[in-house]
Amino acid sequence: MSVIQKAYLTNSLTHGEIADILSSDEYNKRLFYYADLTRKEHNGDGVHLKGLLEFSNICSKNCCYCGLRRQNKNLKRYMLKPKEIIGLARKAVSYGYKTIVLQSGENNIYSIDEFCCVTRSIREMGAHVTLSIGEKSENEYIAYKNAGANRYLLRIETTDEKLYKKLHPSMSHENRFECLKILKKLGYETGSGSLVGLPGQSISSIAEDILFFQKSGFDMIGIGPFISNENTPLRAAKNGSFYTALKVMAIIRLLMPKINIPASTAMETLDKNGRVIALQSGANVVMPVITEGEYRALYRLYPGKICLNDTPSHCMSCISGKIRSIGRTISQTNGDSNNFIYKTLGGAA
Ligand code: 5AD
Ligand code: SF4
Repeated sequence: MSVIQKAYLTNSLTHGEIADILSSDEYNKRLFYYADLTRKEHNGDGVHLKGLLEFSNICSKNCCYCGLRRQNKNLKRYMLKPKEIIGLARKAVSYGYKTIVLQSGENNIYSIDEFCCVTRSIREMGAHVTLSIGEKSENEYIAYKNAGANRYLLRIETTDEKLYKKLHPSMSHENRFECLKILKKLGYETGSGSLVGLPGQSISSIAEDILFFQKSGFDMIGIGPFISNENTPLRAAKNGSFYTALKVMAIIRLLMPKINIPASTAMETLDKNGRVIALQSGANVVMPVITEGEYRALYRLYPGKICLNDTPSHCMSCISGKIRSIGRTISQTNGDSNNFIYKTLGGAA
């Protein structure tokens, strides 16, 4: 039995086996095939579309890879008013989105009350709300949960402590782990994830990331290749590899069969067919941007962002067409992961 078949049958791999798979291309074909089969058997053919609303690019942090970092003076900053956020969400819901993902740089410019009000308004439209707004206090997480927020995304970025310290000046790795723990404890459907191909990142540390995700029992994992940004200290670094990121994603699918895995936008930046390839290698979610106009370009984490001049309704029909063209359907459920549903029903996910 090959190591990939073993992973398919037992949903487990050792650190050494993961490192082996990542170090060689000999497993790729089988890996992508079994990851796709696992996705199909545990989640069906439905693809969840979630509308990504990038409501502010103001950030107080300084992550060395990211174009929104505080010290990047080469970026016009914006923040949408709560009313504008609600308006864009309403439009997206009218196009058929069942989840709105509210994402921004990490900042404290919106009061907790304002943000609760935005969350409540979107829930009243009948949509689910995912927050992706960074490290907050437990009380703030509680307030948003009470206002109806369903899910929270907070990538660990890397579990390698030394590398994390280097890339995240004056941030605490420990606090990031703590935030993830609190989010899970509060009953959020919790998502994490990592960057693949960061300068100084080893295969062994990527294998650690994967095992950490599995051990933590997250409901969603987003994996993206690192893309070098000229407005950051990592401007001279090489981009991560599309295929390494794809392999990491596929391995995660084998180890965590019921979670939600997005086909990340960063993958499409490196390969023009990236999201479709990801959907055929284990992914079951796409998050098209629903921000409009100049804001789409100003939310510039990395260069080469896709669909900059498109409208949200165009993106919805474009991605829906691509999904149908590979024999998949647009999910009509609220977008909860089967992992979360199973846990909520009391099963051991
Ligand atoms: N390349 C790829 N992904 C990036 N992110 C930030 N900067 C980059 C980059 N240069 C990702 C981080 C963050 C998410 C919102 O965007 O992983 O969690
Ligand atoms: Fe800010 Fe997030 Fe970018 Fe870090 S990755 S600089 S926290 S927007």
